[in-house]
Amino acid sequence: MTRLPLMAGNWKMNLNHVEATGVVQKLAWTLADYRYDKKLCEAAVIVPFTDIRTVQNLVQGDRLPLVFGAQDVSLYDSGAYTGEVSAPMLAKLDCTYVVVGHSERREYHGETDEIINAKAKKVLENSMTPIICVGEKLDIRKEGTHVEYVLAQINGVLDGLSSEQVGAAVIAYEPVWAIGTGEVATPEDAQEVCGAIRTRVEELFGSDASQSVRIQYGGSVKASNVVDIMNQSDVDGALVGGASLDPEEFARIVTFYGR
Ligand code: 13P
Repeated sequence: MTRLPLMAGNWKMNLNHVEATGVVQKLAWTLADYRYDKKLCEAAVIVPFTDIRTVQNLVQGDRLPLVFGAQDVSLYDSGAYTGEVSAPMLAKLDCTYVVVGHSERREYHGETDEIINAKAKKVLENSMTPIICVGEKLDIRKEGTHVEYVLAQINGVLDGLSSEQVGAAVIAYEPVWAIGTGEVATPEDAQEVCGAIRTRVEELFGSDASQSVRIQYGGSVKASNVVDIMNQSDVDGALVGGASLDPEEFARIVTFYGR
């Protein structure tokens, strides 16, 4: 089974919808310059809610070789939840991906594995693909219990999903100590945890699911380190923060296979 690599640029709370237009256009031109082939790697931008409609118009209007998605989703479909955005709303905007459980949501918004599991189910019920985030903080890494810690998160965030749903999902392993710090996990560190996640998925959901689920690494990924990370057998892509705001750098990450 060959899994199509997925490079997803998580813009976080950066770039308004006017700026988004410029970045997406420049990304598309640069990818064309690099002779990007979407059969070799999928490229996604994960943008603020306020940018989605603009990005949708650009991607669909100009038939750009990109997909797009959101950074979070409500637990509810509609109703009195001021400030929330629902999965049906995101599906209506043709979002392909929705990130759930990013460490910044866990840290600043108290999201638990249980909440993240419920959000992942909402995304799947609405025919979109969740990018489900897990990862340990520095104290856990220093203790050496990071593999058990992340596998406990996996048990929680995937609870109650079907094998087919897990096989169609994306899991992002993002060690919190490597996010935005310039401190990238070594390729071996990334493989250790991504491999353990795949084994756990096999134990829980069977080998079809474990062979088709895509597992990304995230944390200070750049054009200069992506090739070594992608050479690891259980790493199927990257969730890229800071480097995805620079279209030139992100285009080089997306076309890692040519280097
Ligand atoms: P950086 O690439 O900026 O370290 O961010 C990683 C991340 O959190 C992507 O979701």
